[in-house]
Amino acid sequence: MQLAIAGDLHGQWDLSDHSLLELLAPDALLVVGDLSDGQPRIPALLRQLELPVACILGNHDTAKDPSGRTLQRQIEALGPLHCGWGLRQLPGVAVIGARPGSAGGGYHLSKACQAALGPVSLEDSVARMVAAAAAADPALPLVLLAHSGPAGLGSQAADICGRDWKAPACDWGDQDLTQAIDRIRRERPLPLVVFGHMHHRLKRGAFERCSFVIDRAGTAYLNAACVPRHLVDDAGVALRHFSWVELDGAGLVSAAHRWYGLDGRLRYQETLYSRALVPC
Ligand SMILES: [Fe+2]
Repeated sequence: MQLAIAGDLHGQWDLSDHSLLELLAPDALLVVGDLSDGQPRIPALLRQLELPVACILGNHDTAKDPSGRTLQRQIEALGPLHCGWGLRQLPGVAVIGARPGSAGGGYHLSKACQAALGPVSLEDSVARMVAAAAAADPALPLVLLAHSGPAGLGSQAADICGRDWKAPACDWGDQDLTQAIDRIRRERPLPLVVFGHMHHRLKRGAFERCSFVIDRAGTAYLNAACVPRHLVDDAGVALRHFSWVELDGAGLVSAAHRWYGLDGRLRYQETLYSRALVPC
């Protein structure tokens, strides 16, 4: 199955994305959060899509509203699309949502998240993800959808979850997600973890972060945060970014970053993984 993944939107989602998805016809769309700063427009648009969608909200979706009401409104506006701490079983894939509203950095619940979601401990957060995975159809490939990625994937600024906006560089991944991945994999394979938050373009210098890793257990980690995802190339062609993944019953087939023209033509591609190119 083909999964289109929208990285951090930061307001960049409109009907041109809907038209493009109709042309591209992926089997499902995953959205990693930071839709906007709490505006209702994008959740309403995502609800209009006819293809299956799973979404996790990010730290920006709280709009820094300490009452938690903005985050709660975003969750309610997304309705069944939002899979935070839960299972969203789509045709051909089971999506497990990680902790909503995460800003990374190990384990920290902002005032907005505490107000909207309650004072959830790290252990409770892990248990919720593990329980969601246990409820998933064992015949389906499992994908973990998070806003911030897991800890343990490197501590340099350019690592997939590295802190680049403040010295010293460090691992800015989430501990609860790491523990959940470990526990889920004791029960069943986990071929893919998808997230965003740490933008590809680093804050210091004209460098790009590593956005794809496979660990020794065979789980692939994809950071989809290509920001801005609406852009124009040097020839004046409007582009839309999606990360693009193919999964089958044996796991990951391919992964790439893709930039499409509005006519559905693939203009640029960065291949991240292809099973056909991996030596046996
Ligand atoms: Fe974020």
